[in-house]
Amino acid sequence: MPQKLLRGRILTFISEPQTPDDDSAHLYIEDGALLLEGGMIKACGAYDTIHAQAEDDVQIIDHRPCLLMAGFIDTHLHFPQVQVIASWGAQLLDWLQDYTFPAEARFADPVHGARMATHFFDELIANGTTTSVAYCSSHKASAEVYFAEAASRNMRVIGGKVMMDRNAPDNVCDTPQRGYDDSKALIADWHGKGRAHYAITPRFAITSTPEQLDASGALAREHPNCYIQTHIDENRDEINLTAKLFPEARDYLDVYEHYGLLGTKTLLGHCIHMLPREIDALVETGSRPVFCPTSNLFLGSGLFDYEGLRQRGAKCAIATDIGGGTSYSMLQTLNEGYKVLKLNGQKLHPLRAFYWTTLGNATALGLEDKIGTLDAGSEADIVVLNPQATPAMALRMETCQSLAEELFILQIMSDDRTVAQTYVAGEAMKG
Ligand code: GUN
Ligand code: ZN
Repeated sequence: MPQKLLRGRILTFISEPQTPDDDSAHLYIEDGALLLEGGMIKACGAYDTIHAQAEDDVQIIDHRPCLLMAGFIDTHLHFPQVQVIASWGAQLLDWLQDYTFPAEARFADPVHGARMATHFFDELIANGTTTSVAYCSSHKASAEVYFAEAASRNMRVIGGKVMMDRNAPDNVCDTPQRGYDDSKALIADWHGKGRAHYAITPRFAITSTPEQLDASGALAREHPNCYIQTHIDENRDEINLTAKLFPEARDYLDVYEHYGLLGTKTLLGHCIHMLPREIDALVETGSRPVFCPTSNLFLGSGLFDYEGLRQRGAKCAIATDIGGGTSYSMLQTLNEGYKVLKLNGQKLHPLRAFYWTTLGNATALGLEDKIGTLDAGSEADIVVLNPQATPAMALRMETCQSLAEELFILQIMSDDRTVAQTYVAGEAMKG
């Protein structure tokens, strides 16, 4: 099998860095190399050592002085919202009705969907994201184009067609039976095919009847290896309406709990305005809160209590939430995440930030044996970062004293120009 050797400065995480100067949680190699073969990382180490192991005809790609890191993982975004980003003025419920549902209705058309899927994955690759966890629209065709486009690029992705059968226009609604049948067919066609995983996706309590949540629970029981994704506690009006729609529920989380939708494969978008009982139940079930900073600021939803949840033992993920979110870049997401934590009197230090968008998110997904690290045996999803990509960054880098400082500059000043290359399963994806 042909081999590739990537040379550069290697940074990979072993565990979650606990303090700003905790050097025990990562591996940094100044003149490092990754040996790639068959879409996998075969070896990771010092250039001289790795080069000596490589076959004679190995292709050497010299990325010095760039940093090589595991590809970024975006744990919550909406594929049919590529034309919803930057829609003005509204908070969550109006934003859904005025902008989002009309845009998602167009995904009934697979030709439109396929065109958008191409652009969607181009944007992810341009920003160094190699794994996406996406909501598709309620139309089966939208999930088909999402998975087909990801498969054509050999990307490890998670996704699912949204289930929604009320409080939205007919052209974005399914029914409990159709939602169940279409999800079931998509699971049969895509879950475990190549690098794809399926996520059972009831949009949120407001847009699903009890019958549909019951059908989602049945799918979850029948397919325990699938993920489950939904939204919770994003916005006060959303919470109040949910309480009216489910008067018998103890609180918002109890709606999902009642239908058997919580567990370690459950990704709960937002988790901003959580009650103590909800936090207890979230922690007990091992469900994963997903922090979406650019979206939470853009929609004026509120400030995620990262430390509060983390200290209770919750494994928090971080995500863009396109198109409530405003950037495809996980680096920009970490930038805004830093600011949200600041407003909450908390600190996101740079080693923790880069852990979060790689091994941290992989761990939240239970995929840390496959992605999120550069360890030998991992899949060869890699991002190449240039901290001097723009004149302003190069100028700032002149005074940089440490790896942590360099990472912080990347976190705060980056856009897609920082991403020099993105490898998916060992293949270079940027032109
Ligand atoms: N809650 C239900 N649907 C959505 C959505 O599409 N985006 C966000 N941010 N919140 C939601
Ligand atoms: Zn969302």
